[in-house]
Amino acid sequence: MSIQILGIGSYVPEKILTNCDLEKMVDTSDEWIKTRTGIEQRRIASAEQATSDLAYEAAKKALKNANIQAKELDAIIVASISVDQVFPSTACILQEKLGAKHAFCFDLEAACSGLLYSLEVANSLLVGNPKYKKILVLGAEKLSSIVDWEDRNTCILFGDGAGALILGKCEDAAENCIIASDLGANGKYTDILQIPAGGSRMPASAVTVANKQHYLTMAGSDVFKLAVNAMVGSCKKVMKEAGITADDIKWLVPHQANYRILRAVASRLKIPEDEVYMNVNRFGNTSAASIGLCLDEIADGNLAEKGDYILLTAFGGGLTWGAMLIKW
Ligand code: UT7
Repeated sequence: MSIQILGIGSYVPEKILTNCDLEKMVDTSDEWIKTRTGIEQRRIASAEQATSDLAYEAAKKALKNANIQAKELDAIIVASISVDQVFPSTACILQEKLGAKHAFCFDLEAACSGLLYSLEVANSLLVGNPKYKKILVLGAEKLSSIVDWEDRNTCILFGDGAGALILGKCEDAAENCIIASDLGANGKYTDILQIPAGGSRMPASAVTVANKQHYLTMAGSDVFKLAVNAMVGSCKKVMKEAGITADDIKWLVPHQANYRILRAVASRLKIPEDEVYMNVNRFGNTSAASIGLCLDEIADGNLAEKGDYILLTAFGGGLTWGAMLIKW
């Protein structure tokens, strides 16, 4: 008996917002965005699409690839910072859309590390409890709904999308697909990446709206330095725990924040750049969705073979971070 990835799916909205489009909205340039972040374009959901709608499309593809019905799911976990509503959970809204009537459902908030946190929870549920057999895990974000489109420091970075993985028990595989993991958090830095208002500390009011306190704020360069150190530390721990070196890794799949961050992490881990999976140029930073978007592209493109080691790593608000070694 082992825990395996049964299916992967992803979805990005049709609308493309290019750097040149952004030049017309804020004081920026295609050149600045490309050299500082590697981003060329991002996808933007329509006004009618909420995060659960993006999640639904990704989940449908993952179910199809896993060749299972939604009603076989025992649980749904949605990682997101751009949930449909504060409550009920986006996972419950998604359950109804999918018809996954036997699943228990909850959202998990760990910002850009949300997919790794959710995979860890799902894996632990499957390992620890014989009654759970199949769990749908998603990172899904409509970040365009929480970005201040007048703030050039942030609006150039983010995009919308969803990635889904189904973890399940298998009789015929000897080893779990999640070989090792390391998750961390540091609440000392809650203020460098946050949405200040809309919660119990600062409920929504005309004043908070006028002050734009419902939008994402970020101290970019502080986040940058902490991100590199945290991801490198976590990856090293995971490789040590698994008894492997950088040479054994087929793909490093980092949260797609900024290609400079990704390159810095790879260089400190001595992983060649062509083994770092990057699609930040096409989708920007999609927070909890980004690793799922990468894994779905790896699956669709047959870019990994059975048994390959793939090292996932992420970093985000909280602060939160983590790394996870999976065997394809
Ligand atoms: O998902 C996880 C969380 N997020 C991240 O991991 C993001 C981490 N941070 C970053 O990716 C980078 O810090 C940024 C891309 C956000 C910024 O890059 P940077 O090299 O750290 O630039 P900076 O913040 O130090 O700003 C440099 C200059 C500033 O001008 P002055 O003060 O030097 O005159 C900014 O005002 O660039 C200016 N600037 C811009 N210029 C043109 C900031 N945003 C823009 C812009 N276009 N969009």
